Formats: sequence, C-alpha cells, structure tokens
Amino acid sequence: MFHILSSLDLSNEFFRYLFENYNQNFQSNIKESLGVLIFEEPSTRTKESFSLAFANLGIKAIDIHLQNSSTSKGETIYQTIDTLQNYAKKVVIVFRTGKAIITPPKCEYFINAGDGSHEHPTQALADILTIFQVLNCKFSPKFLDGINITICGDIQNSRVARSNVKLLHKFGAKITLVAPCHLMSKFTMEHFSSSFDCAFSHILTDEIIANSQFLMFLRNQNERQNQFIDTATHQYSMMHDRLQKLSHNSYIMHPGPVNIGAEICVQAFAHKNSLINKQVQNALIARTHLISWMLNS
Ligand code: CP
Repeated sequence: MFHILSSLDLSNEFFRYLFENYNQNFQSNIKESLGVLIFEEPSTRTKESFSLAFANLGIKAIDIHLQNSSTSKGETIYQTIDTLQNYAKKVVIVFRTGKAIITPPKCEYFINAGDGSHEHPTQALADILTIFQVLNCKFSPKFLDGINITICGDIQNSRVARSNVKLLHKFGAKITLVAPCHLMSKFTMEHFSSSFDCAFSHILTDEIIANSQFLMFLRNQNERQNQFIDTATHQYSMMHDRLQKLSHNSYIMHPGPVNIGAEICVQAFAHKNSLINKQVQNALIARTHLISWMLNS
C-alpha cells in the first residue's frame, strides 16, 4: 500500500530512483502533441468534436474546467494557456469565449472555437464541406459561383453567420441575409453589403426559398440579446407552411443547437433535404483534418 500524505512519506529509495532516472523518464513523458480545450461558454458539438478529433489523431486532449482552474485564483486565461504549453512540444489550444478575440494568446497553435458574436471559423469549415459534398463538384477557388445561399435568423448576434458569409463569399456564392430589423441593423447590412455584396430581406419570402439552393438557419442567440425580444419568428423561421415551398434540390442547414419550433419545425429538421446531422458529422471530419494539417505544416 502506498499512501503519500506528507513529504516524509517518500522513502530514500524513491529519491534514488527519481534522481538517477529523471532525465530519461522526463523526456519520454513530454509528448509530441497535446490538445487543450478551454470553453468559457457551453458547447456540445464543438467541444466534443474537437475532443474526438484529437482522439482520432492519437493526440491526448485535456478539458480545462475554468471554474475549478487557477483562473479562479487570479490567473488570467492567457497565463493558464502559457502554463499548459509546458506539457508538450506542440500544444493546440481550442478556445471558446463570449467576447471577440482581438489579440490571441502567445502560442503556436490556436483555434477559435467561437468568440462572442464575432467568428466561428470551424463551424463555417464544416458547413462549406457539407455544401461541397452536396454539389458533388471539383474544388476550384470559385466553386460556389452561381450558387444562391440564404442565411436566415439572428444575423445580428451570430458568429456562425459572420464566418460563413466570409467563406461562402470568398468561394463565389451569392448570399442573401434574412432577419427582422431588430436582428439585422442598418449598420450590419451596410457592412455585409459593402464587403460581401449580400442581398437582404426582413421576411423569408416564397421567392427566396424557391431561389436558394441552401437555406441556412441560425440559432436565436438569446444569451447575446440585451433585452427580451418577442421575436416575430414567423417572419423568418422555417415552419410547416414554408417547408411546402422548398424545391426538391434545395437544402436546409442549421449549425445547432436547434430550437425546434422557433427557428425551424420538427418536419424541417427531419426533412430528406435537411443537412443538419451531416453538418455535425462533417464538423468532426473538418476539425480532425484542420488539426492534422496545422501540426504537419
Ligand atoms: N454549432 C455549435 O457551435 O454548437 P455548440 O455550441 O454545441 O458547440
């Protein structure tokens, strides 16, 4: 039986073993790569898929529970990140936070797993991979030329919308943004119009549904809305009546988590042209490839 309750419980045999072997044992314990998950906001898809992505690559990942970490004793998260980098040669930090990351921490491998209303780059990666699979085309720098994609819902507060607009526009898609006035301000419209040539509507019309090959719905970001908004969801949600207007070659997307009955109805979620579960699967594939690519570049 070994019970170490005091420094004096350690025998001289142990000290001899430590002092004569520390070099070789220490070296073999410093692994090549380590994943570190730091999530300040709740997550299922992003956190668990990153965890599985590291496992797929044979890389150990640790999940930092901030409420039980030294950040509760005054250490900043960036100090915690500095500290954790001592545990492996290549440490991949995956960080989700409620505010925009203006200056990332000093580290070689860093992935934004969603920062406030700002960006969610790996969700956009999963979404564009899903679209690419459906189109069944060859990759080219403008492979989305001529493809109409509508993003619908809480544009104002959605990081998924921001990351997707950038990526879809880069590859040539024509993007329409749909949201009521209080979920898409004039300033937001001006930004998306001047930088990404988006079209806008405050109502999800039959014409938009008929003309969109991909209809991407967003979660209502209630936690980011600074007042309770009695949102007139019927203006932009995919409920049963609108589902009838979906053409056979148009697809429904949603990054999740889905509020059934608010953003889309259960029939839309389960529709044969719903890509929502595919997006979840592709997020794991995309994140696995991203980590592998980063570490091997
Ligand atoms: N889509 C997405 O980021 O989901 P989670 O909040 O569950 O990670």
